[in-house]
Order: sequence, then C-alpha cells, then structure tokens
Amino acid sequence: MPSILLFGVSGLVGSHLVLALKDKYPDFPVTVFLRNTSLDTYLHDTASVRRIVHGTFDEKDKIVALAKEHDIVINVGSSWDVGLSEAIVEGLNQQPEGKKTTLIHMSGTGNFVDKRWKDGASHPEAKVWDDNNPEDMKLINPSMLNGGPDTVVLNAGKEGKIRTYIVFPSGIYGEAAGPVPALGVIQLVFREKVKELGFVPYVGQGTAIFNNLHVRSITPFMLKVLDHALQEQSPQGSVYERCYLIGGQEVPYKEVSEAFAKLFYAEGLTSSSEAKSVPLEEAGEGELPMLMASDMRFVSNRAKALGWKHDEVGLIEYLGQQTKN
Ligand SMILES: NC(=O)c1ccc[n+]([C@@H]2O[C@H](COP(=O)([O-])OP(=O)(O)OC[C@H]3O[C@@H](n4cnc5c(N)ncnc54)[C@H](OP(=O)(O)O)[C@@H]3O)[C@@H](O)[C@H]2O)c1
Ligand SMILES: *[C@@H]1O[C@H](CO)[C@@H](O)[C@H](O)[C@H]1NC(C)=O
Repeated sequence: MPSILLFGVSGLVGSHLVLALKDKYPDFPVTVFLRNTSLDTYLHDTASVRRIVHGTFDEKDKIVALAKEHDIVINVGSSWDVGLSEAIVEGLNQQPEGKKTTLIHMSGTGNFVDKRWKDGASHPEAKVWDDNNPEDMKLINPSMLNGGPDTVVLNAGKEGKIRTYIVFPSGIYGEAAGPVPALGVIQLVFREKVKELGFVPYVGQGTAIFNNLHVRSITPFMLKVLDHALQEQSPQGSVYERCYLIGGQEVPYKEVSEAFAKLFYAEGLTSSSEAKSVPLEEAGEGELPMLMASDMRFVSNRAKALGWKHDEVGLIEYLGQQTKN
C-alpha cells in the first residue's frame, strides 16, 4: 500500500481531503504534518491518520526526512512557501535509485490574473488560460502569485524521478470539515478587508471576473488526480500536461463584494450592508486589491477530461444562506 504524506490537514481543503482519503483508501497509511498540537485525538480516531508529526513549514530537516519515507506527498498547505516545496522535492529525490515517487501540489489560479488592466472592469480581450494548452502552462513563472513553488515542482518533474501533478483551484468558499473552522485564503482575506477598511470594497465598476468554487467539489477531483497518478507508472507527456485548472462560476467582483457585505453586516463586522466602489489605490493592503482589479479567466479542458465538474451551490447563493443563518 502506498504511503501518503499530507501537508495542510487543518486547513479548508486539507480538512476535507483527509476524510476522503480515509473513505476511499482506508488501507493507505496517511501521515500528516501540522503545527496544531490539539488535534491528535481527532486525527487519529476520526480521520484514521496513521502517523502525526508536529512542526512548521520552516523545519526543513524534518520535512526532507518525512518526504524521503513516503511514496506520495500531497501539499495543500501552502502555494506560496518555496522552502516547503524545495524540502519536499529534496526528500523525494533522496529515495532509492529507480523508485518513482509522486507529488501532488495545490497551487491557485491567482497566477492567471490579467494585470494589463487594473481598473476593476472586465475586458473581453483578457487572456483565457487553458490547462490543456502546454504553451500556456509553460508561461508559469516565479513572478506569479503562486509561481515560486510551482516552478520548484515543475522543475522537479522535468528531472523525471518525481511524478508531479499540480491542481490550480480558483477562489474557494465553504466550510472546513473537522474541529478547526478554517476559512481558507479567499474567505479570510474578505474578512480581513472589512476589518481593515470598515466596508467591503470592489474596484471601479466591479465587472472584473472572479472565478470561484465550493470546497466540496475539490476533494473528489483530488482523488481523481491521485487515482490517475497511481495508474501512471510512467506519466505520459510533459509536466505541463499534468496541470489542472479547476473552477466554477464566473462572478463579477461587485456581486461578490455585495454578498460578503450583507453577510458581514449581519455578523456585525461592518455598519454598511453595501459594498463600495474604490480606485485600486484605496482598496488597501494584501493581495485582494490586486485580484479585484483585473479579470481572472481560464478554461478547464484537461481537468474536465479527468472528470472535473462543479455542481455545488454557487458563491452568491452560499453567502446568502450564511447571511440568513
Ligand atoms: N482558499 C482559497 O481560496 C484558495 C484558492 C486558491 C488556492 N488556494 C491554495 O490551496 C491550498 C489550500 O488552501 P486552503 O484554503 O485550504 O488553506 P488554509 O485553510 O489556509 O490551510 C492552510 C494549511 O496549511 C497550514 N500551514 C500554513 N502555514 C503553515 C506553517 N508555516 N507551518 C505549518 N503549517 C502551516 C495551516 O495550518 P494551521 O491550521 O496551523 O494554520 C493549514 O493546515 C493553499 O496552498 C492555498 O494557497 C487556496
Ligand atoms: C487548533 O485546533 C483547535 C481544535 O482542536 C482549534 O480550536 C484551535 O483554534 C486551533 N489552533 C490554531 C492556532 O489554529
């Protein structure tokens, strides 16, 4: 039975994935690496995790040693931490000569924001990325939002010893499974934004496109990627043909911000239930202003061929339900 090492088990995506691994592959021994020390009983008893190792992503030696001992590494912990991806790759590369290992990395479509326009409007000429076009995937580079680790993973895959697969989700909504109420990146940055500005902004006319997907749709696809990896003793094609862009509805930022504003108003986080248009310079700190200012467009042709589908409740409807609760 192949062993699995999972990073990010206490996060939004990882909390679902660990339970799905238990259901689908109860015999695969799963190791998790996490810094929260109060989850061991849950992870052991409920999620049937075989081995729990505590640590943080800057503990390079621990991560190298663990990756060296496992057949499959799944990283849904960080799409930004270059050191983490380097340590994983280093450990996998230290395995015995001739042994093939697998790395499934989660990145994000924040790479594919078309920054030629930053006015918050949608532009019909904006680039539409296609995961089925290797020429598009070859454009991934360290200057992109998640491009540092992506580059480490792609380079490792090119050397041929590690079978690499990268899944790029768009903005994720929904609730975590398990005891930690992890919001994930996008829901967290909207919350931080309303606390920072006192209102929920959007940039300009707010027609720029935000692609998004429900967390529940991600797990079955991650299992499909895992199945695919398990079947491929020698992967066909280049590393660029093992990249999958996954998303759901395309929603204009104005609608997204309005729905968050209503939720945060109901929760008492802001005195205004309306979102407010601002120029990019007035949208404050962090990555959200950059995302809101431009279109992020892509098609999932390769992911669809592997079985990707999104049939969960849409973002606006989901936030509406949260507002009523
Ligand atoms: N959510 C989105 O909208 C979105 C969109 C596109 C891509 N992604 C990417 O997809 C992946 C999963 O996202 P997510 O929303 O599930 O993320 P998340 O909820 O923020 O989870 C991150 C996980 O990584 C762990 N972690 C972070 N920094 C760590 C450190 N220094 N040491 C040890 N553990 C650390 C967290 O542990 P703690 O519980 O201890 O904090 C948590 O388990 C990430 O790479 C993310 O960038 C997310
Ligand atoms: C650690 O996990 C517990 C749940 O067991 C949770 O209540 C707590 O917030 C987590 N700590 C951090 C720092 O995320």
